[in-house]
Amino acid sequence: MFGVSALATVSVEEISSMIDTPKMFQFYFHKDRGLNDSCLQRAKAAKFDVMALTVDTITGGNRERDLRTGFTSPPKLTLSSLFSFATKPMWGINYLTKGKFELPHLQDFVKEGTSTNSSIGNYFSTMLDQSMNWKDAEQLCSKWGGHFALKGVMSVEDAKRAVDIGCTGIMVSNHGGRQLDGSRSPFDQLAEIVDAVGDKLDVICEGGIHRGTHMLKALSLGAKACSGGRLYLYALAAGGQAGVERAIEKYKSELVRDMKLMGCTKISDLNRNNLRFRR
Ligand SMILES: Cc1cc2nc3c(=O)[nH]c(=O)nc-3n(C[C@H](O)[C@H](O)[C@H](O)COP(=O)(O)O)c2cc1C
Repeated sequence: MFGVSALATVSVEEISSMIDTPKMFQFYFHKDRGLNDSCLQRAKAAKFDVMALTVDTITGGNRERDLRTGFTSPPKLTLSSLFSFATKPMWGINYLTKGKFELPHLQDFVKEGTSTNSSIGNYFSTMLDQSMNWKDAEQLCSKWGGHFALKGVMSVEDAKRAVDIGCTGIMVSNHGGRQLDGSRSPFDQLAEIVDAVGDKLDVICEGGIHRGTHMLKALSLGAKACSGGRLYLYALAAGGQAGVERAIEKYKSELVRDMKLMGCTKISDLNRNNLRFRR
């Protein structure tokens, strides 16, 4: 399934016109309720299948690398970013020749990140609603009226509440380790969450899944599926569309090869007997 962020540079309408495979819209709960309603309606009208509400960005993490590089959205031209562009000429050429940088789901509502440069941390801390609570999530879930997931659940208690408010999935995720320094890895939380709610909703393992073997481990532990960001983003940065296609091919062939090596002919053959834990 392909997932796209509320902060995406391509609109849900355009994506929908290009692909008819299952699609997920990732929702950020903004202070601006007009923006929230607009995102919800546009994703619904564009026939997105799943809504995922990100719940682990109540404020921005202390992204030290972003602070050091001065990374903003849209990118700001500084001496060091000019140097980066100069050493990777294709990035510069693409940036200048491939359509203007836009955040189409936001641009009618906010300046930050669209015409005003903003760091991601600053965007989260100023534009998102830090008072978001379970009631808000429940209302959103019923407004959406279809498959609905919380993205960023890391505890059994929250997983159970996700079931109570009507979610059909949760993404066990720590935002790729980009938010809370020292948080456990999603994989380490997975077993207890699957045991508590795995028969009531789809449990998706996310974060650090960068190889077919990582997927096999998560599926063996009981995850229904895996998802990831950098698993395709590095390939995208290095090789564009062809890079992403090659990465997906590699994941596929690794999954198939390693399942053969494990003597498994179908995903349902994967189980906890495949794993040993260090005590
Ligand atoms: C460049 C980048 C941009 C991201 N943007 C978003 C976003 O807009 N919304 C969101 O919920 N998560 C976002 N994430 C977090 C990912 O959805 C995901 O939780 C994380 O990347 C998973 O870890 P992985 O990269 O190890 O697979 C982003 C991650 C990266 C690396």
